[in-house]
Amino acid sequence: MDKAPGTPPLVIALDGPAASGKGTLARLISEHYGFAHLDTGTLYRGVAWLVLNEGGDPADPEIAAAAARDYAIDKIAGADIRTKEVGAAASVVAANTEVRAALLDFQRRFAMKPPKGARGAVLDGRDIGTVVCPDATVKFFVTASPEVRARRRWLELEASRPDLKESEIYQDLLERDARDAARDDAPMAAAPDAELLDTTHLSIDAAFAAARRVIDGVFRRCG
Ligand code: DC
Repeated sequence: MDKAPGTPPLVIALDGPAASGKGTLARLISEHYGFAHLDTGTLYRGVAWLVLNEGGDPADPEIAAAAARDYAIDKIAGADIRTKEVGAAASVVAANTEVRAALLDFQRRFAMKPPKGARGAVLDGRDIGTVVCPDATVKFFVTASPEVRARRRWLELEASRPDLKESEIYQDLLERDARDAARDDAPMAAAPDAELLDTTHLSIDAAFAAARRVIDGVFRRCG
């Protein structure tokens, strides 16, 4: 869907904890409506990977802030940022206010001027509906029980990391949720006007259909 000149882009925000299904939903939504998609977790993962790759400590505020200021997509080309270790380090650098500030503009620019003239943007993360795009057209907060999320993540990682136990992933998710929700700056939270989508007992098709019903309803109302 291309944007008519002068029309503000439509923005769909999806927030929620790790392995809630928000990333898959964001991809399906962006494909269905022809919108650009930004998985904002990749930015924090990229910064964390840069720190770890230099042998730095993700909890060191100056090292993490410098990595965020220098961050560029080509610096992490070919890097495996989807590992459990990078995910945990991403949650640590994400608690750093300077890191968040350095990544904010890029996310807002993406939403306000989606690449390739797309008519809208879908952003998924932890603070999209609350901080990055508080005026988003549609907001979702996607959740699922920690047990179901741990099972999903374990199934995803099983082939590449047969050594990982589901119980270990479960513990990691709980720690990450707690850190992401408790930090002072832009904690993971549902915006008051977000639609709650609990995917615990939903297939991805059912979750996608539920999300589309909400989005189509809002789009009809805004013409
Ligand atoms: O969604 P993810 O697992 O790829 O995100 C990795 C970490 O990045 C997550 O634990 C917290 C952080 N993050 C954040 O603080 N704000 C966002 N908008 C996206 C991710």
